[in-house]
Amino acid sequence: MKKKTLRKLPHPVLIGLMGCGKSSIGRRLSKKLKMPLVDLDDVIVEQAGMSIPDIFARDGEEHFRDLESVALANHIGQRVILASGGGVVLRKLNRKILKEHPPVIWLKASPEFIAARIAGDANRPLIANQDALSRLTALAEERYPLYKECADLVIDRENMDKDDITDKIIKYLKKKAKAQ
Ligand code: S3P
Repeated sequence: MKKKTLRKLPHPVLIGLMGCGKSSIGRRLSKKLKMPLVDLDDVIVEQAGMSIPDIFARDGEEHFRDLESVALANHIGQRVILASGGGVVLRKLNRKILKEHPPVIWLKASPEFIAARIAGDANRPLIANQDALSRLTALAEERYPLYKECADLVIDRENMDKDDITDKIIKYLKKKAKAQ
C-alpha cells in the first residue's frame, strides 16, 4: 500500500467479547498497515504493575474499570490500532468516547465460539472458576446491545478466518479514507 494511502487511513478501535480475537487481528492489522497496536489490557497491566487477575482480586472490578477508562481516554484518537478489553463498553462515558472516534469495529462471536477458545484461561477473572459458557452467555446478553450501539462495522468473527477479517477491515478503512 502506498505511504500516502496509509497516512490517510482512519485508526480503528476493536471491540467485542473476550477471546474474540481483538489482539490477534489487531496484530495482523498493525503489520499490514504499519500502524502501532495498543492493547488497552497491556497498558493497564503495565501502569498497575500487576496482572489483570491481581487487580481484580486486590482492588476489585470497579477499580479495574477506572484504570480502563483512563487508558481509553489516553490512547483514543492517536494514530494507532486500539484493541480494547471486552468490558470497555460498560461505562456510558466510554461509549460516548468510542462513538466520537470512528471507526469502531465489533468482532462479533457467539458465547459458544468463545467458550471453546478460552476454556481454562486463568488470565480472565470474569470467567474464572465458573461455567464459562453460561457466564459468557450472560455477558453477551448484557453487552451485545452496547457493542452494537458503538460499532460502525460489525464483523462476523465466526465464519471468516483472521486473514479474511483483516482484509475486510483494511478495505473498509480505505473506503472511509476515500470518502473523507
Ligand atoms: C474483560 C475482558 C478482558 C480484560 C478483563 C475484563 C471483560 O479483556 O479487560 O479481564 O470485562 O470482558 P479481553 O477482552 O481482551 O480478554
